[in-house]
Amino acid sequence: MKEYILKDDDFLVSQTDKNGNILFANDDFCEVAGYTLEELVGKPHNIVRHPDMPKAAFKDLWETIKSNKIWNGYVKNATKDGGFYWVYATVYPIFDKVRNVQTYLSCRRRPSKQEVADAEKLYKTLS
Ligand SMILES: Cc1cc2nc3c(=O)[nH]c(=O)nc-3n(C[C@H](O)[C@H](O)[C@H](O)COP(=O)(O)O)c2cc1C
Repeated sequence: MKEYILKDDDFLVSQTDKNGNILFANDDFCEVAGYTLEELVGKPHNIVRHPDMPKAAFKDLWETIKSNKIWNGYVKNATKDGGFYWVYATVYPIFDKVRNVQTYLSCRRRPSKQEVADAEKLYKTLS
């Protein structure tokens, strides 16, 4: 499987509803993932899930954002053509005026080689 290495200035953004269905993805996300925006909107975000990712990582992500906190972590995602790419993601809950969560937003940048190596090692120990 082919690895796509993010460019230094790539910034991959996506937004979901409260159930993780995609509402929006920016051009960098669409280009790297290999989908058009139309193909992504309305789909569950696990459309880009890579099988090497441990369930525990997403359990932690959802528990964190459902407690109205910000989650940071390393994610290996699949591309439409069967390749993969690593990101360092920050996932934010977006609130309305009375602090009810409306949507979630994820911003992703290029991780260092060392960060990827460490995440790979850690994720092999998780299920
Ligand atoms: C804003 C946001 C962005 C997400 N981005 C990704 C992502 O890039 N890749 C991914 O595999 N899961 C992402 N998820 C988590 C998915 O919703 C899902 O929990 C995960 O893919 C695991 O799939 P599963 O719940 O079907 O096991 C994101 C969730 C949210 C709320």
